[in-house]
Amino acid sequence: MARILTGIQATGIPHLGNLLGAIRPAISQANDPDNESFLFIADMHSLTQIKDANTLRDNTYAVAAAWLAFGLDARRSVFYRQSDVPQAAELAWYLNCFFPVSRLELAHSFKDKTANLKDGAASVNTGLFTYPMLMSADILLYDAEFVPVGKDQMQHLEFTRDVAKRLHNAMQTEVFVLPEAVTQESVMLVPGLDGEKMSKSRDNTLNIFDDPKALKKRINKEIETDATALEDPKDPDSNPVTRLYALVAGDAAAAHMADQLRAGGYGWGHAKKALLEAVVDGFSTERDEYNRWMADRGALDAELHAGAQRAAEVAHGVLNRVRVALGYGAL
Ligand code: TRP
Repeated sequence: MARILTGIQATGIPHLGNLLGAIRPAISQANDPDNESFLFIADMHSLTQIKDANTLRDNTYAVAAAWLAFGLDARRSVFYRQSDVPQAAELAWYLNCFFPVSRLELAHSFKDKTANLKDGAASVNTGLFTYPMLMSADILLYDAEFVPVGKDQMQHLEFTRDVAKRLHNAMQTEVFVLPEAVTQESVMLVPGLDGEKMSKSRDNTLNIFDDPKALKKRINKEIETDATALEDPKDPDSNPVTRLYALVAGDAAAAHMADQLRAGGYGWGHAKKALLEAVVDGFSTERDEYNRWMADRGALDAELHAGAQRAAEVAHGVLNRVRVALGYGAL
């Protein structure tokens, strides 16, 4: 039984790229009885960027509802909201006291984020700088053995191992489990409506939880197709319709669509209509579930609180090990 832990960014309603590329594979891993999974929504990390209480709250609900709608078994894994187990903030403080500023200054994520801030140095907050220590605390607090992460998070995992070893060396006692990063082998590439990688920042997303009317508008308006006459042959790869169709309707259906396009007499309007129907019908269960959760935030809170309670039990034991090692009392 391996203990796996993942922090989920709370960036709002997950889109098709998030769902197929990251969420669905993570859920099948979490539901695997050979693993013991800790999954949390990293809403304390969100505060480095979001300064709006409603947005912060709603983003967390949307992410939680999406994971549950896609079949996460919250009984089998420990699914919680980071801010419901604030012990991570305590541990982050301790870790801060063992990690050199000069190392944090080398963090790629920090350099990228601060370089992209439009309104200058004034908005580079300290939380952004110590972000990797809170992330290290998230991991070390639960004796996590494996942490599935994207390439962009590898350095944070190195920091986590590094700070754990520094504390061990300084205090001459081993209190932490050293976690290993696991990079996903085949990351599914989901094209956006403009053909580039689907991402919120490019505004090219397909939001499968939207109602059919909104989906229709978005597909028709945002996917640019050429003006080849209906009867003429078309290049199926001249826009992302067939690639998206393959992801939601399957390769065989997409190959058939491509044949029809190449043959002529089949228009982009037909192809878009088929894509729309596949998205609307293919995810109808998930859409209904998502809406059901979003309409009952009390039920979402109950799920997340139950997870937080189980997480807190583990956190309590680990934190006491650390507190005693540092010269504080166990609580
Ligand atoms: N920083 C991670 C990201 O941007 C999210 C995260 C926070 C995380 N805490 C974590 C991931 C702990 C893994 C483990 O994706």
